[in-house]
Amino acid sequence: MKQFQIILFSICLATIFTGTAVSQNKALPHLKKQGTATQLIVDGKPFLILGGELSNSSASSLSYMEPIWSQLAAQQLNTVLAPICWENVEPQEGKFDFTLIDGLISAAHRNNLKLVILWFGSWKNTYSSYVPEWVKRDTKRFPRVLLKDGRPTERLTPLSASNRDADAKAFGALMKHIKTVDANRTVLMIQVQNEIGVIPESRDFSPTANKTFTAAVPQALMDYIKKHDDVLEPELRQAWVAAGKKTSGSWREVFGAAPITDDFFMAWHYATYVDAVTAAGKAGYDIPMFTNAALIRPNYLPGQYNSGGPLPHSLDIYRAGAPSLDFLSPDIYFSNFAYWAGRYQREGNPVFVPETYSGVAGAANAYYAFGQVDAIGFSPFGIEGRFGGPGEPGGGLSPLVAAYSVLDHLAPTILQKQGTNQLAGIVLEGSEQRSGRISFGGYDISVNWAGAPSAPGASDANRRVGILLIQEGADEFLIAGSGSATLSFAPDSEGTQIVGIASIDEEVLVDGKWIWQRRLNGDENGQGQVLRIGSNAVVYKLRLYRY
Ligand code: DGJ
Repeated sequence: MKQFQIILFSICLATIFTGTAVSQNKALPHLKKQGTATQLIVDGKPFLILGGELSNSSASSLSYMEPIWSQLAAQQLNTVLAPICWENVEPQEGKFDFTLIDGLISAAHRNNLKLVILWFGSWKNTYSSYVPEWVKRDTKRFPRVLLKDGRPTERLTPLSASNRDADAKAFGALMKHIKTVDANRTVLMIQVQNEIGVIPESRDFSPTANKTFTAAVPQALMDYIKKHDDVLEPELRQAWVAAGKKTSGSWREVFGAAPITDDFFMAWHYATYVDAVTAAGKAGYDIPMFTNAALIRPNYLPGQYNSGGPLPHSLDIYRAGAPSLDFLSPDIYFSNFAYWAGRYQREGNPVFVPETYSGVAGAANAYYAFGQVDAIGFSPFGIEGRFGGPGEPGGGLSPLVAAYSVLDHLAPTILQKQGTNQLAGIVLEGSEQRSGRISFGGYDISVNWAGAPSAPGASDANRRVGILLIQEGADEFLIAGSGSATLSFAPDSEGTQIVGIASIDEEVLVDGKWIWQRRLNGDENGQGQVLRIGSNAVVYKLRLYRY
């Protein structure tokens, strides 16, 4: 009996020490600057998120998810974006249930996948449909956004301390719990809320909101604007300058009477609310946190789009009001991917795309995002339904799976080059853009679309070309991309010699290993005059020379 007790005691000690060792050895995921880029550090090393976001309801059931994990892992994803919602975590006030998050973390880890958790707290796509029933039913304690005519909407108002504090309490408890169970650091980051903002009107018209709107713009925001005058996003600066660059006054006095002022007002209130929720979460477990934006269609007015969301024109307001957030992210469902990604690439705001298309367009955009804007991650939406699905062109390997296998192979080099001038990307977008140019590594590189003409009325998404370029040496490059295109090369300064192609070798993935496959010449490279991007599952090793 005594011997049994000693053995049991030793096992317990070993378990405690192993557990402690695991959590002490594994550094927390965090962000770190490298050159002009900001990188996500996972297990002590920079990491590229080759991700995908689950459809909204899949992760509400561990058994529904069971077959999906291995499918995603086999399709080259390294990270899954999965929602956890307030109604599930706190079904009764003060009574927390962490069964779901525990199950998601252990299933992801078993499948060698990382997680980004989406906190569907007070808001999901402007609505408050994921709040617990005890919050939904008590509209007095948890007030709503009201329309101009006084009718309520199913949206908690961000101008309420009781809404904010209840959400912060639940989120804080969730994060504290994740800290205790996630010794393997499976959870990399948290998205706080989802596509916030108000529709269908430009702002909350509750009596509290009306009163606050006519009161003075908070001093903290005024101070930020004055201090950052020369680097403010153009829309905010324009409104402020046009209204006379005042340093105090009501919202309309400071930013003018146009509808965008309502948007700025809501942005401040969403930002400060989300900041309090984020800070409570970080007090529980301090890992990177961000929030995402639904973008604007051309000529839409506030309220037709999510007014007050973390849109480019409100990035400064969020920086001033939500310093606890590490960055803001765009959900890019529009064809001008490069424009939107570029607007979120700001000093201190790394590009992470939590939602976008997959398919042919997604593959091209992934190459562009990692090449040109130093993205820390890319993640098409509805991933469990789209990879290799019946609608995917390209046979068994869907375009995104192929691109992810290349990006996974190149990740160490991409991560080494991020934030330097030895990494670039170019995208040909839409049916009009048939060519593009980029100056890179001492060369002027022309990219020409080389696909077959598409049928009249066919989606231009299938014509997209996205290319990633890495400079390995003075005349040596690694190139990968998606779509049909040719690349030709010239010196990037006047009067120097002509550039020739010394050699092009292609590398492909065979049975899990990247191998040299062929030397390309003749018809395969335009008799030595161009590099042809023909497959999105190939890495081209290019050597140039001058004559
Ligand atoms: C954007 C939202 O953020 C997602 O949760 C999902 O609803 C998609 N739209 C649907 O396309």
